[in-house]
Amino acid sequence: MKAISDLQNAATAGASLGLAANRDQLCVLTCGSVDDGKSTLIGRLLLDASLVFEDHVAALTRDSRTHGTVAGDIDPALLVDGLEAEREQGITIDVAYRYFGTPRRRFIVADTPGHKDYTRNMVTGASNSDLAILLVDAGKGLLEQTRRHAYLCSLLGIRQFVLAVNKMDLVGFDERRFNEIAEAFAQFADRFSGCHVVAIPTSALHGDNIVRRSVQMPWYRGLPLLEYLESVAVDHASGTAALRLPVQYVNRPNASFRGYAGTVASGALRQGMEIVIPRTGVRSRIARIVTMDGELREAAAAAAVTVVLDDAIDVSRGDIISSPETPPQRADAFAAHVIWMSETPLLPGRSYWLKAGAQTTGATVTELKYRVDIETFDHLAAKEMHLNEIAFVNLATAEPIVFDPYDENRDTGGFILIDRHSNATVAAGLIRFGLRRAANTYFQSFEVTKTARARLNAQKPALLWFTGLSGAGKSTIADQLEKKLHALGKHTFVLDGDNVRHGLNRDLGFTEADRVENIRRVAEVAKLFVEAGLITLVSFISPFRAEREMARELVAPGEFIEVFVNTPLETCEQRDPKGLYKKARRGELQNFTGLDSPYEPPENPELALNARTESADDLADRIIDFMQQRGLLS
Ligand code: ADX
Repeated sequence: MKAISDLQNAATAGASLGLAANRDQLCVLTCGSVDDGKSTLIGRLLLDASLVFEDHVAALTRDSRTHGTVAGDIDPALLVDGLEAEREQGITIDVAYRYFGTPRRRFIVADTPGHKDYTRNMVTGASNSDLAILLVDAGKGLLEQTRRHAYLCSLLGIRQFVLAVNKMDLVGFDERRFNEIAEAFAQFADRFSGCHVVAIPTSALHGDNIVRRSVQMPWYRGLPLLEYLESVAVDHASGTAALRLPVQYVNRPNASFRGYAGTVASGALRQGMEIVIPRTGVRSRIARIVTMDGELREAAAAAAVTVVLDDAIDVSRGDIISSPETPPQRADAFAAHVIWMSETPLLPGRSYWLKAGAQTTGATVTELKYRVDIETFDHLAAKEMHLNEIAFVNLATAEPIVFDPYDENRDTGGFILIDRHSNATVAAGLIRFGLRRAANTYFQSFEVTKTARARLNAQKPALLWFTGLSGAGKSTIADQLEKKLHALGKHTFVLDGDNVRHGLNRDLGFTEADRVENIRRVAEVAKLFVEAGLITLVSFISPFRAEREMARELVAPGEFIEVFVNTPLETCEQRDPKGLYKKARRGELQNFTGLDSPYEPPENPELALNARTESADDLADRIIDFMQQRGLLS
């Protein structure tokens, strides 16, 4: 899953899905709570299977004497942790991939640390893995985290689970305790579909049932962990075998060569094979497959290739060269599971960047259908999403994207969401299905255009967006400005927060989520008014930068004028024209802007007005001057 691999430096992510498609290879994810013994388990696996270099073992023996926790013996955790310098930092960061092989199979083990960014790292690791080892401390039993990780793994397409009931030595190798935990987990896992679970009682520290069968637990008749991993049949998750080659970049060293470079996500390609570009529906054939090792006749999943096509058709970065028999879908609305990974909540209606492979576009959650309770699997009503929550949502993108449902293809069915301001990755998403209603509505064009309407009005349409605290003077200035424009013979309209909240937006309150929706709606209405050729004035607190940016992007460049009515909170509170500050101070009004709800001042407004020192009349004149300079008023 490329998008999710991008969560971290993809350089270490040799364990990409493509590699997993090789028969002799198994991608394993280890997960568990902080002290469940993941490092010990992996270390023990390497050590007992003699997969460590001798000199490394010597260094460890010395180390264990000083740092280790096992008297006189090698502490296997040091082996793994040492590789990651975990000892110095106290935590392991990101996903560490370890490669090792036995005569029967090659393994790529993704290890994710147990600290607070765990979900983020786990999503990265799980999206690339065939099987998950869930570590449970036999003394503690199943924890919320165990259930959480198992559910995340299943969401991310892992169907094979090993429940390693670890630290059996601490419970006297008790069979009953093991059965209890194994049964509780089986019951839980039953609820997510199609998963296969094997429970193994282990003591990673002492090596019981890791590589060698435990003499302490003769009652266990199954395989030790390594043997199980070597023999488990895995239906590699790349589902569809149809060709998907996401174009990472267009290689044009000179006029005579035009190649499309990328890593084959699924399927195979051959010289002469017919392909389609889903964005345009245009077909062509593969002329050449160029790689680092020379030209190939064919290439399969995981190969990094540059493809030359027979025809000079329109292909750009983000396109997915696909098999025409089973092409991916293309839509600008779809249903998806979203895993939220930011401290700042997800707000429906807010625009984020969506990155799916090499495709990037704006996206908003149009409907938060439900949040999933991981303990009970109940669907909970929610208006926003918080850190580590998982929800099922509808999303709309600014441009259509090409995708497969995640269950069919983990590479082309995943995406990430990026905050437009902080550039932080805030969510991972798994596309479940495209929404048909998007495919059934078309944009209707009309012959009388915005320009024609504006010409008839003898004016240029514009959107003057007044933002500032309650009582800052936005509406007073807008009122003055409209009067002046009106006197100049201009056609205008004012959309005012208090007024619009009496009609169109009467269902909205003052939570952050409601304010986002409030602004989204008024921005869409303002856009229509601009289309109608009007000089449109919007007077809303509009406290968030993201939504003001969104409004700006809805109209043509130069049409949006952000007017920051910059009146200090103290002045607004002194004026208190509606007595609302007093109410809020008395605790009768919650979420009041400037008091217990944030206001993000504009960073680069076209105009910043000081309504404390200048009169509304003078300020309206300043706006008229500005409009004249901009060529918006003749
Ligand atoms: S916005 O934040 O969503 O843009 P909007 O401009 O529509 O707000 O509405 C603000 C007006 O609602 C204020 O001028 C004030 O009269 C009224 N109001 C009522 N409750 C609040 C509140 N909690 N915070 C801010 N304004 C409020």
